Amino acid sequence: MSATLLTNASQLLTLRGCAPRRGASMRDLGIIEDGAVCIEDGTITAVGTSAEVWEQMKTVEVIDCTNKVILPGFVDSHTHPVFVHPRLIDFEKRIAGAHYEEIAAAGGGIRSSLRGVRESSEDQLATHVLKALNEMSAHGTTTVEAKSGYGLSVEDEIHSLEAIRLAAEQWTGTVVPTLLGAHVVPPEYRNDPEKYVGIVCDQMIPYVAEEHFDAPAGSYKLAAYVDVFCERGAFTPDQCVRILRAARNHGLKTRIHVGQLTHTALDLFAEFHPASVDHLDHLSDADIAWLATADTVATLLPAANYFLGLSVFPPARKLIDNGVAVALATDYNPGTSPTTSMPLVLSVACTHMKMSPAEAITAATINGACALNLQHRKGSLEPGKDADIAIFDAQDYREIPYWFGVNRCSQTIT
Ligand code: NIG
Ligand code: FE
Repeated sequence: MSATLLTNASQLLTLRGCAPRRGASMRDLGIIEDGAVCIEDGTITAVGTSAEVWEQMKTVEVIDCTNKVILPGFVDSHTHPVFVHPRLIDFEKRIAGAHYEEIAAAGGGIRSSLRGVRESSEDQLATHVLKALNEMSAHGTTTVEAKSGYGLSVEDEIHSLEAIRLAAEQWTGTVVPTLLGAHVVPPEYRNDPEKYVGIVCDQMIPYVAEEHFDAPAGSYKLAAYVDVFCERGAFTPDQCVRILRAARNHGLKTRIHVGQLTHTALDLFAEFHPASVDHLDHLSDADIAWLATADTVATLLPAANYFLGLSVFPPARKLIDNGVAVALATDYNPGTSPTTSMPLVLSVACTHMKMSPAEAITAATINGACALNLQHRKGSLEPGKDADIAIFDAQDYREIPYWFGVNRCSQTIT
């Protein structure tokens, strides 16, 4: 069988294992100097020093990685790619001093992105999603969670998820789709939010959970996860619990936007075993104690804080030091985080949340994979796992968050 050998890397970051990394283990990247990795049919078959792996080789195509760092492709476990227009008016208003919630209350924010989505065809939406996915892979990302959430009607949320599916079929990485019908209450239900929650529970969730048949590709589900935005101005904790129950009843896994602008106690959601709770700018000690023992990853999205110009960031140091499994993601969206770059997120995590470069890389690889329940296939470089690999033009992994605002990813393999 022919194989591909990536060899002579200055550093190969293995991040071996399938469990979320907590505490000191976030700082152990399993580095092999002068490292090599062998790939056969999309699966990793050998990892070691260049000399060790070379000995096991038969026919090979060689990719010389001299003066490069090889690491698992980034797992971007939180993105909102189904939108059409940038939100430039919101951007300028914020620069002039307005707050995110004020802008939303005045007709900007998430609701102002609905029109572009509702007026676009599935193919047009898929084009936008694919453009984002291609930008992401150019920056080292090989797995992406992609949410709907700017359609906010049964039809437009389904269109959004179909667009994600169409784009995913044209991309070589892995896409995990999430229904975020509960992003905000759309304007037509402003006076009856409970009715909209009923639509999410009784129409959207059952539809996306059912098997759809798509010859010749076979059957598919439109979403693997249901997400909710639990926040002042979005959905109340009780409404979120109602939606998460409906998701569970339909066999869909859950994840939650929570604690972005105000605090909500996380143990309210313990019964759902969410794969991930995301944002977490506002946390109590009780929340941190719960997270330290829960089978839930804490996904931090510091590019949103950066882009909103906030001086407060999620308490990454406290979370890690208390044994919470922390992941990092872009939160790519038109309102709070218009970036597709995981290296930029790593940089902000290091400079503003005081995560070490090693912790940031762990959070963006194996812990991101855990946040998507993909830890047995993704997030580390070891035999048996998918050959999802990023190669950076660097001799030391710390350069990945160090060089910011430029792209040092030289190749992504999937
Ligand atoms: O994760 N918090 C909710 N959703 C996005 C923002 C969406 C928007 O402003 O369009 C976020 O930050
Ligand atoms: Fe988000």
